[in-house]
Amino acid sequence: MGCVDRKAVACVGRTGTYKLVFTTEHTELTEKKLCDLCALRGKNIFLENFMNREEALALVREYVKNEGLVRHMLSVEAAMRFYAEKYGEDVEAWGLIGLLHDFDWEIHPTLEGHPQNGAPILRERGVPEDIVQDILSHADHLGLPRDTLRRKAICACDEVTGLITAVALVRPSRSLYDLEASSVKKKWKDKAFAAGTNREEMEHAAKEFGVDVWEHVGNVILAMRKIAPELELVGNLQPPA
Ligand SMILES: [Fe+2]
Ligand SMILES: [Fe+2]
Repeated sequence: MGCVDRKAVACVGRTGTYKLVFTTEHTELTEKKLCDLCALRGKNIFLENFMNREEALALVREYVKNEGLVRHMLSVEAAMRFYAEKYGEDVEAWGLIGLLHDFDWEIHPTLEGHPQNGAPILRERGVPEDIVQDILSHADHLGLPRDTLRRKAICACDEVTGLITAVALVRPSRSLYDLEASSVKKKWKDKAFAAGTNREEMEHAAKEFGVDVWEHVGNVILAMRKIAPELELVGNLQPPA
């Protein structure tokens, strides 16, 4: 890429998520793609695809050895993709935030390091700054404003996936296929159950996101159900036809 007018600006277009590489000269660019959203805005902007899902998952696998943690990030990714689709947002960008948000936990397993010390690695790998910032926003201690739908979504989707997983695992089927929000509701008041998941925080996060907490639990179950085999939450049931 030999363009002199390189302006690395994050662009989230309808064709996926791209790093804006330049705005004027583009003859040296071999692989280029026009963001149709920018084109609709009348700008002649060519974009370079910065990170696809496969690369993001490879990054997760490089840094995370605990399968439970990988499954946690896959769950949050599924929930983020579900909501991006529901709200007509950029599914790939939302998915990446979910998939990468805890990638550095094993190398920075305390709040002294996570997720802030993981951010330089993400930047180095080409994750655009707006996505890095949204990943950072999931950490309360960093105090970043949760002032966009995407930031509210990552906050609302993070912890609830852990509770849903815990409830699925204590049911006879050990499956997401027959799990309903009502089963999670029954365990909600039992503070000793999945004690690490803070009910008040989950309720608050759903409210901030603008979704009724039980509707939210139902949505996240639906999202996770789509990847039940990867989450090892098929249990003893058959996948729905
Ligand atoms: Fe985290
Ligand atoms: Fe998380």
